[in-house]
Amino acid sequence: MSGIFYITTPIYYVNAEPHIGHAYTTIVADTFNRFNILRGMDSFFLTGTDEHGDKIAEAAKANGVSPKDYVDKISQKFRDTWPTLMISNDYFIRTTDPEHVATVQRILDLVNNKGDIYFSEYEGKYCVGCERFYSDRELADGKCPDHLKEPEIRKESNYFFRMSRYQDWLIDHIKKNPDFIRPERYKNEVLAFLREPLEDLCISRPKTRLSWGITLPFDENFVTYVWFDALINYISAIGYPEEPAFQKYWPHAQHLIAKDILKPHGIYWPCMLKSAGVEPYRHLNVHGYWNINKNKMSKSVGSVVRPLDLVGVYGVDAFRFFLMREMTFGLDSDFSEEALVSRINSDLANDLGNLVSRSISMILKYYNGDLPVSGKLSDSDNRLRDHAVSVIDSYESFMSGTEFHKALMAVWEIVSGLNKYIDEQQPWVLAKNDHDRLATVMFHIYQGLRIVSALIWPVMPGAAETIQKQLKLPVTGSKLTLDILRKWGADKPVGTLEKSPNLFPRVELENKQSPAVDTPCKKAIDPIKPLIDFETFQKVDLRVGTVLSAEPIPKSKKLLKLTVDLGENEPRIIVAGIAEKISPDDIISRQITVVANLEPVKLMGVESHGMVLAASHDKSFSLIVPASAITSGSSIR
Ligand code: MSP
Repeated sequence: MSGIFYITTPIYYVNAEPHIGHAYTTIVADTFNRFNILRGMDSFFLTGTDEHGDKIAEAAKANGVSPKDYVDKISQKFRDTWPTLMISNDYFIRTTDPEHVATVQRILDLVNNKGDIYFSEYEGKYCVGCERFYSDRELADGKCPDHLKEPEIRKESNYFFRMSRYQDWLIDHIKKNPDFIRPERYKNEVLAFLREPLEDLCISRPKTRLSWGITLPFDENFVTYVWFDALINYISAIGYPEEPAFQKYWPHAQHLIAKDILKPHGIYWPCMLKSAGVEPYRHLNVHGYWNINKNKMSKSVGSVVRPLDLVGVYGVDAFRFFLMREMTFGLDSDFSEEALVSRINSDLANDLGNLVSRSISMILKYYNGDLPVSGKLSDSDNRLRDHAVSVIDSYESFMSGTEFHKALMAVWEIVSGLNKYIDEQQPWVLAKNDHDRLATVMFHIYQGLRIVSALIWPVMPGAAETIQKQLKLPVTGSKLTLDILRKWGADKPVGTLEKSPNLFPRVELENKQSPAVDTPCKKAIDPIKPLIDFETFQKVDLRVGTVLSAEPIPKSKKLLKLTVDLGENEPRIIVAGIAEKISPDDIISRQITVVANLEPVKLMGVESHGMVLAASHDKSFSLIVPASAITSGSSIR
């Protein structure tokens, strides 16, 4: 199959570090993208960060840095996280990119020239968390349903986008294109909203209140409302309007979001596009929320699940599989480490891992790893083949309809079918008395595994490619398309099969503690960060320092202010977050390890000129110190 596919994730706010919710959407997008690559599609996958607005400006202020420095740092964390989760986006957009800024201004001019923007005074209820005004009927008991806070009353003169003009068109478009917003419950939610008259959208903020944003091209006293800016990323990233990529991909655009941002995507965005004379996107795919112990994930109660912690313990393939298999797309799911471990042990270790290792061991044992040619087929061989090939079709239809968990259930039918086939055919008995039959059975197991390995690739690219390598398949990874796969027996191994170590060892949950506590899993040690090259490492200047004095910082539980001799003309002030771990008296006169070339940063009003190194795990803590006394300032290599 040929065709074009364009998938986007929301661009994430840079006021928080990546958590399991962001990871889920981006893994779904990656899976969806890889699936379309397997279908032979020309695909483009976009993600990025949303960097303007009140929230970001406030977070930067709270961290004592400029908005630009702040967004650079957190955006980089998102960018670094995705490869660790085997996410292969084609482009990463930032709303502070000059090309994006220019496109937003261009669209604003276009919409303004069309007469769709006017200036007016507005008083309304504004949720700072959501960065938008709320109408009374959208509030729950007078509070924002997401942030559970009463909105502020704000009165301002601002620019408005005549969204109301497009209400009838939008209703009509949704009705004529029943899969424009899917699953159906979210389409119904948008239609229900559109039953009431649509209010115009306030699209500016006066610079007197907020300057961190894109200046309106027709009034430099105002910046653009963050949502009007952010949504445009989906077209600016692919070079709206003249770039060939825009012409090619936009007609096939599919957005992926969670239910929290349905209104901006289901209502504002199509109206904005219509006003700008751009065709609407093809599909808005909306998923539910991951909750932790039935509650919303929350920083304040320490229930934020950090994906990298889990990947460090359980492996990226298992983590991706769990997310894709456990959640019914569109509905909420509850995350627990117990559920993750149970899926790993049953679906991955028992079913798939076991199937691969027993199958390859038999081909090695009976044929020294050289796949035999099939003999005469029995009914059970035909059934096995017909079923496996038919699953490719149902898999394709589930995957393209965003029913990912059903697609995986279908693949696991092949896995259990193969395990059952082995149990029934008993190759170990055939090896003693029926070599023709043994060859046919081993050939069929191999073909079944080939299909399984390709169908799991979008979800578990690492494990899939390991299996394909062990099977010595001539085409692997993204090259093994569904069309090739449908030809049973088309691929013969190139060379001798490789021994298969246990792909998914069973895991024991050491401590039945839920991840809803800040250290998500008892066994989790900090995961290894992405590789850096030697040159980057050499830039870090590590030195031995001697602590001359130490004192707590008023109003801070965590920080100690240290005066440290680094062999320089004057001692340095270093602020270290170790007050809960070590008392000032216990650190004075000790030699410590210091990162000496970190940019200074202000912490609780004190400027810190370096960082103290220490190791920690759970509640244990240990300063990193030289094994014997050495001159202060000695460099560590
Ligand atoms: N910046 C806006 C989006 C602008 S898009 C033009 C924004 N950012 S966000 O950082 O808050 O990300 C929201 C998205 O993160 C959700 O729509 C969803 O994709 C993901 N998730 C955040 N928490 C989640 C869960 N608990 N569960 C599942 N996904 C969630 O909104």
